[in-house]
Amino acid sequence: MNWAARAREAAQAVQRIVARTPEVAVILGSGLGALAEEVSSDAIIAYDEIPHFPRPSVEGHAGRLVVGTLEGRSVAVMQGRAHFYEGYTMAEVVFPVRVLHALGARVLVVSNAAGGLNRQWRAGDLMVISDHINFMGANPLVGPNEAEMGPRFPDMSEAYDKDLVALAEAAALDLRISLRKGIYVGVSGPSYETPAELRMLARWGADAVGMSTVHEVIAARHAGMRVLGLTAITDMATGEVVAPVSHEEVLAVARELEPRFVRLVRRIVATLPA
Ligand code: HPA
Repeated sequence: MNWAARAREAAQAVQRIVARTPEVAVILGSGLGALAEEVSSDAIIAYDEIPHFPRPSVEGHAGRLVVGTLEGRSVAVMQGRAHFYEGYTMAEVVFPVRVLHALGARVLVVSNAAGGLNRQWRAGDLMVISDHINFMGANPLVGPNEAEMGPRFPDMSEAYDKDLVALAEAAALDLRISLRKGIYVGVSGPSYETPAELRMLARWGADAVGMSTVHEVIAARHAGMRVLGLTAITDMATGEVVAPVSHEEVLAVARELEPRFVRLVRRIVATLPA
């Protein structure tokens, strides 16, 4: 069975539980799961109820798909994601994006926790992603192209939709939430970066480094979805080691900024053009 057929099978399993067609899909990153509680839900589906769906094994990732409405819009919200470093293949980690597309979502909001490389910034900042660097060492589209999912050589010249970036910036301004804008570099992890690696990534022009998102965005663009990316800067990854970064600290800072993140995403969803 190819990936497109598996995605259809998974989407049908979701549709048997809940009939709603989501307009917007949201993937919630480490420590950012609270937005899912704000959805007026028709159904909360554990990932292990969905065929072929990868299950996250790390703390801070619940593993539930919440389908319902947020700000009056139909949404499907993934509370937690599986990562490449957990041992899933690239095709497996982007499978949920293909299911969200098969469910009908045409806008994808991806979020993550990341280390800040930009020395002007601070832990606790929020960033909208303007572009990315794929330094995961892999691409989810490697292998036979399934033409029904998208083209062999998808364009990535505007991976992050400019209108959605502008909409996010307007929403932040409205709410008086400070919002950085920058470039996210995706690494495979799970080890954090060495100081030499961090200096290299900063010189490449990246503003934030994390272990997710880029492959999901590649799969989403392959399928023609419009993408908005939001990053929670949970630690400063400048290579000047004050204290080593830990997953506990990443989660703690993410939880601290989560209320701002939730307000911002709500406003973005509310102001999305139909
Ligand atoms: N590096 C990579 N991934 C991360 C970091 C980091 O410093 N913080 C949160 N996710």
